[in-house]
Amino acid sequence: MLYIGVDLGTSAVKLLLMEGNGEIKKIVSKEYPLYFPNPGWSEQKPEDWWEQVVAGIRKLTAECDRSKVAGISFGGQMHGLVILDKDDNVIRPAILWNDGRTQKQTDYLNNVIGKDKLVELTANIAFAGFTAPKILWVKENEPENFAKICKIMLPKDYIAYKLTGSFCTDVSDASGMLLLDVKNRSWSREMLDICGISIDKMPKLYESYETVGTLKPELAAEFGFNPGVKVAAGGGDNAAAAVGTGTVGDGMCNISLGTSGTVFISSKEFSKNDNPAIHLFCHADGSYHLMGCMLSAASCNKWWMDEIIGTKDYGVQQKDITDDKLGRNHIYFMPYLMGERSPHNNPDARAAFIGMSMDSTRADMTQAVLEGVAFGLRDSVEVAKACGINLTRTKICGGGAKSPLWKKIIANVMNLKVDVIESEEGPALGGAMLAAVACGEYASVEEAAAKLVKVIDTVDPDPEIAARYEEQYRKFVKLYPMLKDFY
Ligand code: XUL
Repeated sequence: MLYIGVDLGTSAVKLLLMEGNGEIKKIVSKEYPLYFPNPGWSEQKPEDWWEQVVAGIRKLTAECDRSKVAGISFGGQMHGLVILDKDDNVIRPAILWNDGRTQKQTDYLNNVIGKDKLVELTANIAFAGFTAPKILWVKENEPENFAKICKIMLPKDYIAYKLTGSFCTDVSDASGMLLLDVKNRSWSREMLDICGISIDKMPKLYESYETVGTLKPELAAEFGFNPGVKVAAGGGDNAAAAVGTGTVGDGMCNISLGTSGTVFISSKEFSKNDNPAIHLFCHADGSYHLMGCMLSAASCNKWWMDEIIGTKDYGVQQKDITDDKLGRNHIYFMPYLMGERSPHNNPDARAAFIGMSMDSTRADMTQAVLEGVAFGLRDSVEVAKACGINLTRTKICGGGAKSPLWKKIIANVMNLKVDVIESEEGPALGGAMLAAVACGEYASVEEAAAKLVKVIDTVDPDPEIAARYEEQYRKFVKLYPMLKDFY
């Protein structure tokens, strides 16, 4: 049978067609606009997502035996607020995960409701990108829109709703709303009260690998599929990416170098979140995970290449950055183009280059961008270490993982072995795997991961380079506190 994984990303939706044995038949990508209506704001139109998902499914399945399509599922950009009125119209553009407008509401939650209370109810504290502060923002700034709300959902759930009519979400994505009692995998009534939301406005909760409904008959006919194609709840993109890289079970790590950058650590048990600078969320395999999230990762390199240098050939810009240069750069880059989530929780932070001299080159600055992102991710690894987590290796995925140089920098800055897997299509592959589990092709997410994910290479840290980076990281951590008051 065939399974479709839909990675509803920030710049594009990526769709992947997978055979039941894991063979990837085809991948297509469809872009949509991202709007920045005010500095630090970030919005998209759910209608654009839907249009491109439909076009993408048609293109993806154009040459295959469409009667073999059995299941569809998702990895979706997390935290975005999608609100529908009583007629299922989208009330306003979705407010995305990297939107920084909610400082006031975030401060209210953290300081007035209080971090301890939030951790008790949801296992997490408030961050500007989370969904609950956005609901409070709409309530305060757009009361006419707030009054119209009948359904609250996350980005991928809008697609599931359009495909099936099922008003649903999954626990991994729901964890990032700050409305979920993460430990018990159920809505927190107290948090809903704090946000002025009744439970009937919230989607039904599922595990990521559970079926939420079947494709509407008219859509099945339009796509040329057999009736009864199952749609599984899917996961937040990081949880789905973890499935796609086999980061399931206990103490496994995945680093995602996408628009955002994340360090994702799987955990069988719910452990108290000792340092809520990183998140404690449900995992798509039925367990839990810890995660640190940077708001700009591969997007820092994309910005530097596309907007500043003016090239699409990223590889050419990296070719002069040889091993002898690693850990010896005199330039540092602070990767805060959209503010920062983990660990600083500061939507007003901004990027900076520090340390240029007359002999600095473009390659030094390119290297600094790649290193700045790696140092930012290391900040989250340090928090995890302080919580008693001992890591020796990690998987890697996302657009940035296509660069051999960036993988080497990550391995040495983190002093971790980086396992490279056959397919770097984390969330889209994870989505297809979740669909396969929902359809009974595999008994569990762990079984699917064990059978389908193959490590094809490992990048080992080099002791000398890692030691040089250790010294540089010690300097990097001093920079944010010095710049903080400037932002
Ligand atoms: C995770 C997060 C991002 C988005 C990107 O908390 O905000 O990784 O999910 O799509």
